[in-house]
Amino acid sequence: MKKLAIYPGSFDPVTNGHVDIIERGLKIFDEIIVAILINPVKKSLFSVEERTEMLEVCFKNYENVKVDYFNGLLVDYAAMKKAGAILRGMRATSDFEHEFQLALMNRKLNRDVQTVFLMTGLRWIFTSSSVVKEAAHFGGDIASMVPPFVNQKLKEKFALRSSE
Ligand code: PNS
Repeated sequence: MKKLAIYPGSFDPVTNGHVDIIERGLKIFDEIIVAILINPVKKSLFSVEERTEMLEVCFKNYENVKVDYFNGLLVDYAAMKKAGAILRGMRATSDFEHEFQLALMNRKLNRDVQTVFLMTGLRWIFTSSSVVKEAAHFGGDIASMVPPFVNQKLKEKFALRSSE
């Protein structure tokens, strides 16, 4: 049977840290669905369509990586896709408490879906979508932290914003 995992997140935008987790996740799973979970409370910089496009461009050469989005509970999405696992990356210990809470809540909601954590590669330990956005907003060079297409999209987004 195909081992399928859901890699959920906001991906606003996708960073090299996410790419690293997905590439390493593919050594464990046959297929990964990168799922943008829509959080109505969280204000995002990029629309769901823009985030989907960035992910699709990043993984265009990977047959076993699919991109999707979902508005609802992660465990419901995993069950709908018949995925046995949720894949999450963990950076420093500061991520632990939140991830622990999420994983336990998801387990309470559906015991058939296992959360699997991969430790983020050392290179990406300080990379997050939030710091990347903040640095890009002030013109910082974040080219080494995001895929080239994302870097271009961030530049376009902030150039557009400053001209508004
Ligand atoms: O990239 P993020 O913002 O750290 O991802 C968090 C995400 C999207 C995985 C989490 O907020 C989520 O799963 N949201 C969907 C709603 C849900 O199922 N929440 C967990 C149980 S309350």
